Formats: sequence, structure tokens, C-alpha cells
Amino acid sequence: MQRQSLVIANWKMNGSRHLVKQLANTLRNAPEVLADVTVAVCPPAVLLAAWQSEVFYDQVHLGAQDVNENASGAHTGEHSLALVAEAGAEYVLIGHSERRQFYGDTEQRIQAKVESALAATEPKFKVVLCVGESEQEREAEQTMQVVQAQLESALQNVTSAKMAQVVIAYEPVWAIGTGKTASPAQAQEVHAFIRQWLQQKYDAAGTSVPLLYGGSVKAENAETLFAEADIDGGLIGGASLEPEAFLAICRAAQ
Ligand code: G3P
Repeated sequence: MQRQSLVIANWKMNGSRHLVKQLANTLRNAPEVLADVTVAVCPPAVLLAAWQSEVFYDQVHLGAQDVNENASGAHTGEHSLALVAEAGAEYVLIGHSERRQFYGDTEQRIQAKVESALAATEPKFKVVLCVGESEQEREAEQTMQVVQAQLESALQNVTSAKMAQVVIAYEPVWAIGTGKTASPAQAQEVHAFIRQWLQQKYDAAGTSVPLLYGGSVKAENAETLFAEADIDGGLIGGASLEPEAFLAICRAAQ
């Protein structure tokens, strides 16, 4: 099945209004790429409004790097789905390994965030669920068990109909920000496992879920990664802070 290629920039705690303009101009000047590839940018939440004044909504989408599962209230420093929607976000990353490792995202909170985001109606968010194993888990040959447990927990109450709003990003923790990219074969093996799990649980709905790879994707390695049968695009960290490199990665997804 041919799925639309999707490339998402995760700026993490980086960027500036200047970089917003630089990347927006780079993308604006590549309409042939945007015609083939769905591109989303997840800047720090404070820069979403700057992107809103730049992006051409039918071509470059915006996303939030995380959300709070509550609708509103006394959650200092947090961002609700309604607030990130106000700032133009249509995508939301949930369960990124850095949230899991450092900011208290337990499996229970990730499940709650997924269900809150899928329950929203304006917009119907695209929920990007991040999964992946640590170096120790890979060395212990526990990768598939870890990824399956993360999927089962986060998606336990998600129906086939709602899976049309879900994207899965496989991000091996040992490849994030390290320059140690998973080989195409390593990534494809896990993506194929995720695809099989999705099809077993959701039938046809599981076939259409985009599977992104993240973890040291660069202009130099994107093409061989995206050529794999079950890799539908990428979730890009460091390289998305360099407009020309990010555009090259989007071109590789065409
Ligand atoms: O969410 C994407 C990120 O975790 C990957 O980071 O710098 O290895 O591309 P990086």
C-alpha cells in the first residue's frame, strides 16, 4: 500500500523567530517537494504563533511537541490541546523518549494524552505516538517486546476508526541526538514488526497508519532509510534546525 510520505521537524528546545523565517522561506521555495510530501514543523510552543504568520496551511503543517491531557486549569507551564490548536497546531507528538525519560511521561499519562488528543474535534489532531527502546534493551534483545508494550499501553482504548488520526514514530533512544543512526535494515525490522502488530489489531486500518523513523536522520542517510518498505518518512531533530538539510530530507521522502 502506498502511504503519503510524512516528514516532521521536532525542534525540541531550540529555534528562534529568525529560524522560523529561514525554514519557512526554504520550504516556500520548494513547492514541488510540498506537493509530494506532507511536512509538519513542531517548534517550541512559544514559536507556534510565529509560524502561524508564515505557513501556507495547505502545504506546511504545525505541531506541538507535547500536550497536557487536561482540558484547562491549574497546570502552570503546561499547554492544553485547545491552546496549541489556537496557535495552529494540527499535529501533536506524544510519548517522546525525552518526555518519558526526564519529564514524567508514564505509560498511563501517555495513554491519557493519546485519548484526549483523539477525542478533540476542532481540529481532529494527528497524534504522533513515539516509541522506541534504550541501548540496554536493544543489547538485551528486548526491542520488540518494549515497542509492543508501548503500543499496547498507549493504544489500548483506540478504535480502528480513530487510527486514521494516528502516526507511529519509531525512535530508538540510542539513535536520538547521538549520530548513531539505526541502519535501514535495523529500522525496517522494527517498522515491519509495528506494521504487523497494527494489522493484527486493526486490520486494514492498521495498514494505513504512517510509520516514521527518528534518530539521527540526516540529508546523507535519509534516502536509504526512506527506501525501506515500512518507513513512510521521518521525525527529524537536529537536522531540522538547518533549513537546507531539512529540505534535502524532505526531498528524499518524495
Ligand atoms: O523527535 C526526533 C528526535 O528525537 C530525533 O532527534 O537529533 O537524532 O534527529 P535527532
